[in-house]
Amino acid sequence: MTSSQLIGGDQLTIKNLHFGYDSLSIFTDLNVTVEPGEFLSIIGPSGCGKTTCLNLLSGFLKPDSGSVLLRGESLEPEDPHFGYVFQQATLFPWLSTLENVEFGLKMQGMNEKVRREKAMVYLEKVGLKGFEDYLPLKLSGGMQQRVNLARALVMEPRLLLMDEPFGALDAITRETMNDELLRLWNELGQTVVFITHDIDEAVYLSDRILVLDRPPNGIFKDLKIDLKRPRIGKDTRTSDKFWDYKKELVDDIAQVAKSAVVS
Ligand SMILES: Nc1ncnc2c1ncn2[C@@H]1O[C@H](COP(=O)(O)OP(=O)(O)OP(=O)(O)O)[C@@H](O)[C@H]1O
Ligand SMILES: [Mg+2]
Repeated sequence: MTSSQLIGGDQLTIKNLHFGYDSLSIFTDLNVTVEPGEFLSIIGPSGCGKTTCLNLLSGFLKPDSGSVLLRGESLEPEDPHFGYVFQQATLFPWLSTLENVEFGLKMQGMNEKVRREKAMVYLEKVGLKGFEDYLPLKLSGGMQQRVNLARALVMEPRLLLMDEPFGALDAITRETMNDELLRLWNELGQTVVFITHDIDEAVYLSDRILVLDRPPNGIFKDLKIDLKRPRIGKDTRTSDKFWDYKKELVDDIAQVAKSAVVS
């Protein structure tokens, strides 16, 4: 695989899914299809089930009933079908940047020369060439999240699951990371499911946004984001359409939050 080849994405389907933690019902009859190569964001108030949804998609959690299908087939636990980027950078502090990125390949038994070359390709893609020998402590928060991203991408997953990956970053670094993520996604073409609390970020990145309601109500809104690509920083962010989407979603979130207070 050379750096310019498209990896592509898989279709993902959630069908009639029910899930709860003990007596706490989170989803009753959740149905979602994410198309191959689609960039889907999930937003909603804290505790509405976003991380739970991602964990059901990864197979970390099993539905009580219903199914999660990848390319129309049941998830196989042994199939490493996804890359997962967590909210907090979860790097091994004693390993260098390069060793962190190649760790998953090492676990797969890939020989050192091949995995180092591959890790270098992805470090370069996230703009960290020259930092391969640094320990995580010597990297900024944004750089650590780039390593995290490279670590997920190096496995060349056709599905990328991201749980508020840029939540801890300042606004300017976050916008830079948004552009870098779009550049990589444009190049690699994976299916992405992205969780965020940030409405701007969701609108800027996504083909589609799901607004989750309070449990166990499921999807409050499924909104297609019809902004042309490539999305170009200030031009996109200051366009009338961007503001219309943003306003609509702010109203939706307020409505979801209000319904929780009333009920
Ligand atoms: N392991 C668990 N055991 C029991 N309840 C859990 C567990 N994990 C989450 N929950 C509960 O499930 C609900 C949904 O949690 P989840 O983490 O999916 O929310 P979230 O939308 O990701 O929230 P946030 O935006 O704060 O990250 C919450 O009420 C939470 O307390
Ligand atoms: Mg969460």
